[in-house]
Amino acid sequence: MSAWRQKLVEMSYPLLRPWLFELEAETAHHWTLAGMRLGARCGLLAGEPPVVNPVEVCGLKFPNRVGLAAGMDKAGDAVDGFGALGFGFVEVGTLTPVAQAGNPAPRLFRVVSRQGIINRMGFNNPGIEAGMANVKGRKYRGMLGVNLGKNFFTPNERATDDYLAGLRGAWREADYVVVNLSSPNTKGLRDLQEAESARALIRALHAEQEILRQRWQKHVPIWIKIAPDLTPPQRESLTRVFMEEKLEGVIATNTTLSREHVEGLKHGSETGGLSGAPLTRRATETIASLAQQLQGSMPIIGVGGIMTAADAVEKIQAGAALVQLYSGLVYSGPALVRECIEALGGS
Ligand SMILES: Cc1cc2nc3c(=O)[nH]c(=O)nc-3n(C[C@H](O)[C@H](O)[C@H](O)COP(=O)(O)O)c2cc1C
Repeated sequence: MSAWRQKLVEMSYPLLRPWLFELEAETAHHWTLAGMRLGARCGLLAGEPPVVNPVEVCGLKFPNRVGLAAGMDKAGDAVDGFGALGFGFVEVGTLTPVAQAGNPAPRLFRVVSRQGIINRMGFNNPGIEAGMANVKGRKYRGMLGVNLGKNFFTPNERATDDYLAGLRGAWREADYVVVNLSSPNTKGLRDLQEAESARALIRALHAEQEILRQRWQKHVPIWIKIAPDLTPPQRESLTRVFMEEKLEGVIATNTTLSREHVEGLKHGSETGGLSGAPLTRRATETIASLAQQLQGSMPIIGVGGIMTAADAVEKIQAGAALVQLYSGLVYSGPALVRECIEALGGS
């Protein structure tokens, strides 16, 4: 984005934020998405992601190390707008094989005094086919991730079928695919992080990946996104499986079920996953333990409570190759993206 446009967009957020924060959280989210789509359509939000300390991960060339985390653009229809904020990669989804409405509203809450967000959206999304139709005509030139989930009505024993359907559907558009095993809002989903369930799933996905690679002459790396709430033994056995099965990457972390830091606060006891500042330390500690066990055998994508550029630097220092953010964008606006990119310039 040109410098003056960047300034305009950055300066408008502190003016818009009080109005957005007056609105119910999901309404504010819809207005934000509408703004991103409109901004892209009228040419205000345009331009290539800045090339700052680029890095090659899994054979993909990331222009910079800062990405948009899954869940902001679930339908993939605002990629150009978000991409114009500077993100080196944008992850759309979670997308499931069949469209679903998600949980009843209200299902999204701000814990403003702690810069936290609690959500129990429940994978509201238009389905993988519609999501991929949305991203198809994108102008965005950064990397595109597609985050996959299972439908709420699919029992865990059939979850593999949903992820395989997602993989097939995402293949042609995606630069990388994420298997989301860590949303707390789909009953039983996190149980798929149990070591042997994960092993069976990875094997099935790798077999399909090879078929798709030959058919389309294109390789799409598969990463798994994990929760910050695994006990150390659970995390260690899962990580061992990742290494044995030669998984290509791990995203750490999704939202937490912990209510540490928000107990007793307005909305602090809502059901769902907590993100933002209350998650920062827990996510960074997860990344550090993963890095110690993985010993560089696969990249870690660090996410969870990046509210300042210093938080992004800490994630990289803990062992992440790339970082993503969501809640920080809600609280600090587009300037945070530029600040993180700049701060990671010399990492
Ligand atoms: C409202 C909301 C919806 C989310 N939806 C998804 C999702 O569909 N899939 C997913 O993998 N993560 C989802 N996440 C989790 C984020 O991608 C991220 O892992 C988490 O919020 C921690 O990062 P943050 O503290 O920067 O927000 C969602 C987060 C929020 C706040």
